[in-house]
Amino acid sequence: MSLSELPKLELHLHLEGAAPPAFIRGLAKEKSVDLSGIFREDGSYAYRDFVHFLSVYEAATSVLKSPEDYARLVTAVLEESAAHGVVYCETFVSPDFCGGSDVGAWREYLHAMQDAADRAEAQHGIILRGIVTCIRHFGPEKAKASARCAAETAGDWITGFGIAGDEGQGKPRDFAYSFDMAREAGLRLTAHAGEWGGPQSVKDALDDLKVERIGHGVRAIEDLALVDRLAEDGITLEVCPGSNVTLGVYPKWDQHPIQKLRERGVKVTVSTDDPPFFHTTMTREYEELERAFGWGAADFHEISQTALAAAFCDEDTKAKIA
Ligand code: ADE
Ligand code: ZN
Repeated sequence: MSLSELPKLELHLHLEGAAPPAFIRGLAKEKSVDLSGIFREDGSYAYRDFVHFLSVYEAATSVLKSPEDYARLVTAVLEESAAHGVVYCETFVSPDFCGGSDVGAWREYLHAMQDAADRAEAQHGIILRGIVTCIRHFGPEKAKASARCAAETAGDWITGFGIAGDEGQGKPRDFAYSFDMAREAGLRLTAHAGEWGGPQSVKDALDDLKVERIGHGVRAIEDLALVDRLAEDGITLEVCPGSNVTLGVYPKWDQHPIQKLRERGVKVTVSTDDPPFFHTTMTREYEELERAFGWGAADFHEISQTALAAAFCDEDTKAKIA
């Protein structure tokens, strides 16, 4: 079986970040919005660094204006994921971008996304679940509104709550109230940390937000006591190596710590983060892991089993994937 056909589970995918540039350009044209500044001549997204990436991401997202636009986005994203062998995917969705944190509007966006996901499941067999995500640089008050939306819609499809955005702004404890609200609603928890921040950022996410998964988490490698804590506590890392290399967290694939973390007993999984922004796909992640670390069928199987165990879905759904 080729690497593209290998069944894969992806736990860390930003929905808007997975939007193909041509899809965003098409919406911009329909709505007469000039987004030419965010594209390179070759049609790919143009950004200088991580903080600029976040603003280009938000500019691209600005043309997604209705539940119907989000339904079309889910359809496009799942078609692409399924073509790379993804059978189960968890995507970050933000009330900040879908109705501005109004619970009624959020419900409409959610229903449209769920309908599109149901159609994709029937057509391609891919299963999607949503993790409501607050955005760190939007601040704690907006996060509370997102947590309220998450708590109101927690269930079969919205199964988690998380935080993304600029790790350089604020502290995890500023968002503890929102995470407490989400936990009380029965949601599973993850937080971006240890991508731009060092080991302390990961420790703060664990201590103050009490998450069971960490988005990225790779810079934990700078503190071996923390690495051992992650291993002992069974914290799963949603590692996105292609994203880290493209954004310059590590200069080359060979220098990425995914293999060292794994060898020291940390549960690692593999995801694309924002695939068109980082010129990657799940197939490319697997190809690079094969090239850089000699991973083969047994390694990819182990990664999938780790992702299945850490997935934020119920046991009936897991039985369908396995
Ligand atoms: N939002 C989209 N991609 C992200 C990333 N890699 N880190 C933090 N926030 C993000
Ligand atoms: Zn991310």
